Amino acid sequence: MIYSESNPGKNQTISEVFILVGFSNLNKLQIVLFLVLLVIYLVTLIGNLLVILLIKLNPSLHTPMYFFLVNLSFLEICFTSSVVPQLLIDLLVVQKTITIAGCAAQMYVITIMGLTECCLLAVMAYDRYMAICHPLHYKTIMSGQACAQFAGASWIIGISVEVVQTTWIFSLPFCGSNRIHHFLCDIPPVLKMACTDTSKNEIMVFTVSVLFIMSPFLMIILSYICIISTILMLPSVEGRNKAFSTCSSHLMVVTLFYGMALISYLGLKSSFTPESNQMISLMNIIVGPVLNPIIYTLRNKEVKGAFIKTVEKSIFSHNWRKQRMKDSVS
Ligand SMILES: *[C@@H]1O[C@H](CO)[C@@H](O)[C@H](O)[C@H]1NC(C)=O
Repeated sequence: MIYSESNPGKNQTISEVFILVGFSNLNKLQIVLFLVLLVIYLVTLIGNLLVILLIKLNPSLHTPMYFFLVNLSFLEICFTSSVVPQLLIDLLVVQKTITIAGCAAQMYVITIMGLTECCLLAVMAYDRYMAICHPLHYKTIMSGQACAQFAGASWIIGISVEVVQTTWIFSLPFCGSNRIHHFLCDIPPVLKMACTDTSKNEIMVFTVSVLFIMSPFLMIILSYICIISTILMLPSVEGRNKAFSTCSSHLMVVTLFYGMALISYLGLKSSFTPESNQMISLMNIIVGPVLNPIIYTLRNKEVKGAFIKTVEKSIFSHNWRKQRMKDSVS
């Protein structure tokens, strides 16, 4: 294999692999980061699987809001799984190489998941808007079929836009240095590796962000303006609290998602060191998926109730009896 870096004279050597330099400069601290990340990753998987299971098992949670939440949790699992395991391995090994195909695969998954999540969060905001501002039409508009179509549309938008974008980026020639100064194949660091004019790709990245990241955000803001003004006009305090509690979890999740995205965007634009930018982007990736299930289970009376009921049922009757039976047989 020819690493172009060892032949600085031939800077037209086409790169075959990339090296994700990532957190190499942390040296021994990489082990600490490895352990912290491993724990966070496991909590993320367990939390999101638990949310999916709880909703599937409890008929009282078979409503549009929780249908979308299952989809969101599924998406978060895919998203973190496309980033964290690879990073965990890289934190342990010295040769942090990734093939260009592997790098492309990673970019496909993270960009598709990111874009789909923006759309899904907007759909969830629309669901809350219909439930609170148009309660009489809610049942007919958010039918099971409509929910599946809204979620399906989010996935179709995410997949079609990002397949085009990522395929285009990976059709560029990569030569010269093959060291990516990042821990994952995200768009900006990979675009830097291309040895050709990337201004058209940058225009596409910008257009996609405006159309599919900023406009869902705008839709979410508009929905919440209507939601909050409707809630404030409710006559009773009790009614206000009840209405607000049905959307507070979603509001927190949205704030977290777009807040983290804004911080990492500002980090890229400011003169932070590459290391702190990587840390910010790592936080951006792990914080949402690990906190969302916690936000939805702890802040939401329905989910909390379902959780407690399911745990009680499984511990105190089902498993316990099964265990007793097994014990008495063996
Ligand atoms: C998410 O929504 C899509 C489209 O409606 C559906 O096909 C898919 O099964 C859902 N995923 C999960 C995990 O529920």
